Amino acid sequence: MTIGKLTLFNSMLKFEEKYKHIELKETKYLDIKQFEWNGNLSDIELEVFNKNGIIVIDKFQKNNNDLYSNFEKYFGNIIPQGKDLSNQSIQVKKKQGGKTYFESSRSQPLHSDGAYSTNYPKIIFLNCITQSKVGGESLILDGNKLLEFLEKYKLLNDILDKPFKIQRWGQVITKPLIYENKNSNRIEISYTPFLDKLIGESDRDEKIFAIIQRYINNSKNHQYFKLRSNQLLIIDNTRYLHGRRFFEDNEERCLERVWFNGE
Ligand SMILES: [Fe+2]
Repeated sequence: MTIGKLTLFNSMLKFEEKYKHIELKETKYLDIKQFEWNGNLSDIELEVFNKNGIIVIDKFQKNNNDLYSNFEKYFGNIIPQGKDLSNQSIQVKKKQGGKTYFESSRSQPLHSDGAYSTNYPKIIFLNCITQSKVGGESLILDGNKLLEFLEKYKLLNDILDKPFKIQRWGQVITKPLIYENKNSNRIEISYTPFLDKLIGESDRDEKIFAIIQRYINNSKNHQYFKLRSNQLLIIDNTRYLHGRRFFEDNEERCLERVWFNGE
């Protein structure tokens, strides 16, 4: 069985159709621990982040003396982004004629950043510069719950550390989607629907991948959080998947994104 381009594309279209109209209820909001920015991250804030894998820093302001590189002591080196890989950060916002999700106001399916690459970020900053009035909520799925689900149905050991061939934009890399990090002894996830083709080692591996996809696309497993301007969301990209609810096309929304390698 090959999970081809068309199947993945169709499932993304269904996703967008479904999420355009979803009604958000209070129970769907994820309660994220928030801290007020005081120029540095405290031990308590880091401890909560290590435990929960997600925090919000409120009233976050970065000035000239307060560049993102100040965070490298906590989260490892910044992974450069942008066309010529020379930027510390890039802005996720709608662009005139933008073709990718990233440059549009469309819903964005759940994913881990950089999952189609071997050099993907372990920690992500999303610094909210401008938020839309309608929509624009961050969509979040706790990967630990996905792991519990796979464990419950005795599928986790079958998929753990199993390599998949992932094709995107003509390039093929081989890596597992769920793997054990030998340094931290944690099971980590790196998942994306943004690929052209995925080939497992066996039919069974691909079937398990399809089950994982269904779990991820099931709205019962989704939670939301709406960032406000000057809030910084720090996410463990190896635990949480993230995406976005659509926003109105005539609105501005801009998040500044930074990637850290966690080493
Ligand atoms: Fe992302």
